[in-house]
Amino acid sequence: AHQWRGVLAEYREHLPFADTDTLLTLGEGGTPLVPAPALSRRVGADVHIKVEGQNPTGSFKDRGMVSAMSKALNDGATAVVCASTGNTSASAAAYATAAGMTCAVLLPEGKIAAGKLAQAVVHGAKLIQVQGNFDDCLEIARKLDAEHPVELVNSVNPYRLQGQKTAAFEVSDALGRAPDIHILPVGNAGNISAYWMGYREYHEAGVNQALPAMWGYQAAGAAPFVAGRPISNPETVATAIRIGAPASWDLAVTARDDSGGLIDAVSDQQILDAQSLLAAEVGIFVEPASAAGVAGLLQQSERGLVPAGATIAITVTGNGLKDIDTALSQRDLTPTVIPVDIAAAAEAIGL
Ligand code: F0G
Repeated sequence: AHQWRGVLAEYREHLPFADTDTLLTLGEGGTPLVPAPALSRRVGADVHIKVEGQNPTGSFKDRGMVSAMSKALNDGATAVVCASTGNTSASAAAYATAAGMTCAVLLPEGKIAAGKLAQAVVHGAKLIQVQGNFDDCLEIARKLDAEHPVELVNSVNPYRLQGQKTAAFEVSDALGRAPDIHILPVGNAGNISAYWMGYREYHEAGVNQALPAMWGYQAAGAAPFVAGRPISNPETVATAIRIGAPASWDLAVTARDDSGGLIDAVSDQQILDAQSLLAAEVGIFVEPASAAGVAGLLQQSERGLVPAGATIAITVTGNGLKDIDTALSQRDLTPTVIPVDIAAAAEAIGL
């Protein structure tokens, strides 16, 4: 049986690596595109979920990280650095381990989900908590890269987007075409830019006849694209996208406008409701930021703006297990406790 070889080997002819380059992999990519009948019924379209939480470190970042880390390795680098709201640092820590490099991560103090912190710790990254937000962390990381012998592996590194564009190839390969609409959360704006690059390349190569409209969703308290300018105090329960000055600004605006798409905002409550709906009605547990695209689809549907019967792909970016604190804080956790007794068990279950 064929074993998935990772995104760099699987899509090698579409990526800027030489035949002699070493390609790392932890088995990233090849994630499922899952039909979501519960959502399809609700919005009157054909909705599919790209489940990026099934990547090795539990988020889409692994696609870009394997690429950036392979590039750094082939260039002879021995140390990498990144700023992160948590997932990039988890991925960087894992792939630096695979590459035999040291890794330092700059994180906004107190704003990282516990699971993501644990990942950086167990993979042995040097953890630095900055008394500022993600945007402050990225500024420091960029300057460290400019002034010291360390490679920056944030999405301003072009190899990150090269790797992440493979998700658009996978969606297209699974559907046999581009979706009519592709929806995803937007934070630092690398991923929407990468998907658009992937869709454009498949279109130019004649693999896809058409291009999707790109719909991006920010959290209302951290929505610089909706404001039309960077904002200084981003705030949202979806800590992964708590970003006020996205690095890939121009690329994301191009993706939005050239695709005939949109970048809009959803409230924290809409995000948490969409997270619950995905878990309880579809069967997929995602972290809060990852539900922003689903929240956006439901919002467009309420406004009557979802084209009937459209083929829609939604990327859910990260695994729910990364941030169980937020998920559980919404719920009643009072346990049902019984003695060791069959009748009591039957009664408690309601049989
Ligand atoms: N969803 C999740 C779960 C994320 O972690 C991120 C970004 C995004 C969506 C937004 O993607 O930045 O390409 O627009 N997380 C980065 C990090 C910032 O440091 O892990 P984007």
